[in-house]
Amino acid sequence: MAHSKFQRANKKIGVIMESTFSIVEAMAELFIVAVGILVVVVVFLYIADVTQTTHAVRRNFPVVGRFRYLFEHLGEFFRQYFFAMDREEMPFNRSMRTWVYQAAKGVDSTIAFGSTRDLKPTGTILFVNCAYPTMVKDAVHTSSITFGPQCAKPYVTDSIFHVSGMSFGAISSPAVTALSKGAKKAGCWMNTGEGGLSPYHLSGGADIIFQIGTAKYGVRDPQGGLSVEKLQALAKHEQVRMFEIKMSQGAKPGKGGILPGEKVNEEIARIRTIEVGTDSISPNRHPEIDSAEELLDMIHKVRQATGKPVGFKAVIGAYGWLDELCELINKRGPESAPDFIAIDSADGGTGAAPMSLMDYVGLPLKESLPLVVDLITRHGLRDRIRIIASGKLVTPGEVAWALCVGADIAVSARGFMFALGCIQALQCNKNTCPTGITTHDPKLQRGLDVTDKAERVYRFAKTMRKEVGVIAHSCGVKEPRLLKRYHCRIVQENGKSVPLDELYPTA
Ligand SMILES: Cc1cc2nc3c(=O)[nH]c(=O)nc-3n(C[C@H](O)[C@H](O)[C@H](O)COP(=O)(O)O)c2cc1C
Ligand code: SF4
Repeated sequence: MAHSKFQRANKKIGVIMESTFSIVEAMAELFIVAVGILVVVVVFLYIADVTQTTHAVRRNFPVVGRFRYLFEHLGEFFRQYFFAMDREEMPFNRSMRTWVYQAAKGVDSTIAFGSTRDLKPTGTILFVNCAYPTMVKDAVHTSSITFGPQCAKPYVTDSIFHVSGMSFGAISSPAVTALSKGAKKAGCWMNTGEGGLSPYHLSGGADIIFQIGTAKYGVRDPQGGLSVEKLQALAKHEQVRMFEIKMSQGAKPGKGGILPGEKVNEEIARIRTIEVGTDSISPNRHPEIDSAEELLDMIHKVRQATGKPVGFKAVIGAYGWLDELCELINKRGPESAPDFIAIDSADGGTGAAPMSLMDYVGLPLKESLPLVVDLITRHGLRDRIRIIASGKLVTPGEVAWALCVGADIAVSARGFMFALGCIQALQCNKNTCPTGITTHDPKLQRGLDVTDKAERVYRFAKTMRKEVGVIAHSCGVKEPRLLKRYHCRIVQENGKSVPLDELYPTA
C-alpha cells in the first residue's frame, strides 16, 4: 500500500518536472528568437544610420546615437523630478508649483525649518510686517468693487483673484467644465479667452467675462466683423457679466491666436465657425481698431449693445498710446473710458506662440503694472478704470505685490492649470497633454476627473485669497484691498530694499 502511494507521488513529480522543462525549453527558444530579431533590427538600424546624411550624431554613433532623441524627449518630463532645484525651473519652479498643488489639494501648505527662498537677488519682493499686526478678530471681509457703475448692468465682485482667459480649443471641455464649476464655488469669474462661449463655460454657473478676440469667434458676422446681434444674444446670458476686447496677449504681442489644426475637432470648429482640422489663426489685431478714437468707439459699441461693462486686455510695450487714450477719454468724458484695463505680462502663457515673441517682446508685469497705474492716475482716471493684472501671479506673495502696486484684481491662467493637475510637461501645442487639460484626445481627457478638479480649482482660489489676507494682516491692515505701496519693498542691486512708494512715488 505504502509502496503504491510512493509510486503515485513519484509519477506526479515526474509530470511536474516534465512540464517545467518544456516551459523552460519554450522560453529559451523564444529568447533565442527575440535575440535574433534584435540583432537583425540593430544591423538594419546600423546600416540606416551610417548611410544617412542628415544626422551627424547618428552617422558617427550608429544606433547608440538614437538614444539621444529618446533621452531628450524623456528629459522634458523627468528633469523636474531628478535634476532641477526647488527654485530653479522655468516658467514655474517646483516651489511655486508645489504651493499651488498643496493649496488645490487642501493639504497642509506650511513648510519646515526655514525658507529656501534667497532674499538677496535684485528684484526680490519683501513685505513690511507691522509691529502690531491685525488680530484675527479684527480682520474684515475683502471689500467689493464695481465695474462700470454707469452701465445698465454693472458688475460687482469681492474676490481679488479670478480665472484668466483660456480659450475652449486651447483647453479641453473637461478642463473648461472643471474651471467653471470650481470658479462658481469659489465666487470668482472665468474669462472665455478668444475661442467663443461654449456650453462648458456655462455648465458650472460661474460669472463669465466674454473675450472678443481679433477673429471675433462667437460674435462674428459672415465677413469676419463684429456682429451686434450676436453680441446682444450673448449679453442675454445672465452669467456673462463683462466683455473684454483683446488687443494683445503677453506671450504673443502683435500676433493673433494660433490653434493648431490637430486640435480643431468638429465641436471647436462649430463654436468658432471654422473648418475642422485646419489651423485656426486670427488676425494680429482688430482690423477696425487702429487708433485711440477707434478703440474708444469699439468700447462704446460693445457697451451700447450689451449694457455691460467693457474693457480691454493688452501687454504693454510702447506706452505713449495710453497717454493719448487717456487724453481722448478726458475730452470725450469719463463715461467713454474702458471699465477696466487688463495688463498681461510679457512672460504670460499661451497654448502656442513663436519663441521670438514669447521671449523678447513686451514688458514684464513688474514694469508695466506700476507704469499703467501711475499713468491713469496722472490723467485723473484711477477711480474710473479698474486694473486687472496677470502674469505668473500664482503665489500669495505675487498677488499681494500686485495689489500693493495698485491692481484691483489679479487673474491667473497657468495657476489654475496647475490646480487642474498640469505637470508643466510643455506639450500644450501638441494635443498630447498627459493631464487632459490641453488635449482633445478623449483617451487623455479621461484622466481629468471634473468633480475632483473643480474642487481643486475652488480650493486654490480660496487658499490664495486666505493667504493674501495673511500677508495683509501681518502688514497691519484689515483686508487685502488696503495693501499700499509702502507695504512692499524691492531688493536693489546694492542688496538693500526700497519701498514701492519710493520707487514709484506718483500714485
Ligand atoms: C493654454 C492657455 C490659453 C490661453 N488663451 C488665451 C486666450 O484665448 N486669450 C487671452 O487673452 N489670453 C490667453 N492666455 C493667456 C492668459 O490668459 C494669461 O494672460 C497669461 O497666461 C498670464 O497669466 P499666467 O501667468 O497666470 O498664466 C492663455 C494662456 C494659456 C496658458
Ligand atoms: S501638463 Fe498639459 S497643460 Fe500642463 S504644460 Fe503639459 S501639456 Fe500643457
